[in-house]
Amino acid sequence: MPRGVFITFEGLDGSGKTTQLRRLAEWLEAEQESIVVTRQPGGTRIGDRIRTLLLDSRTENLDSFAELGLMFSDRAQAIAEIIRPALDEGKIVLCDRFTDSTEAYQGGGRELGSEIVLSLHKSICGGLQPDVTFLLMPDFDASLKRARKRNTKALKQEGKDENRFERENDLFYRRVFEKYREIAAREPLRVIAIDGDATIEEIHERIVSVMKDHLARVR
Ligand code: TYD
Repeated sequence: MPRGVFITFEGLDGSGKTTQLRRLAEWLEAEQESIVVTRQPGGTRIGDRIRTLLLDSRTENLDSFAELGLMFSDRAQAIAEIIRPALDEGKIVLCDRFTDSTEAYQGGGRELGSEIVLSLHKSICGGLQPDVTFLLMPDFDASLKRARKRNTKALKQEGKDENRFERENDLFYRRVFEKYREIAAREPLRVIAIDGDATIEEIHERIVSVMKDHLARVR
């Protein structure tokens, strides 16, 4: 049985990571790979309930440590229910956000620091690390604008209100952005940072080429 491979996508809201994840999923399926696609927060029934609590704009006064705990509760459930079993079966898991998001948003954005996030990761997630993380870092202002527009549209069209984070100010997002940079500098072997505003196609090609190299190495 081939070895399971764990791939995560990271970046600011509106960075285009979800589009790239979908494109990679399509490419892998065309290559006859067995894949599992999931996202955080959410992805399990329990996780979806946690997601609603976390992202709904009507959630008020959520303490930053409570927020941190909920992110890890969601993750623990996803690892137990989805990620570990799939990796054990030799599948390729594509996950939209993982612990780097917690380090960037709660550690950086909410200023809780990296240490608490990394230590919770170690104890709660058994230190499970992605094999490769694609970190999408297009222009800061363009990403934010895209994310805010998309959420306003979702609220109008579907009545879906997942705006709690997008309401944060630019300084919050600057800290998230900087923390992502820090993570990429600290773990250059795992984290493939894709800067600038290349086209969707160019970024997809870069991701596929990294993926091909990785699969050739581990399989
Ligand atoms: P989502 O709608 O999935 O946004 P996106 O499409 O941009 O990924 O919302 C996830 C939000 O939750 C996003 O604003 C980032 C935030 N988040 C954290 O703050 N910490 C975390 O650990 C995770 C997984 C997400």
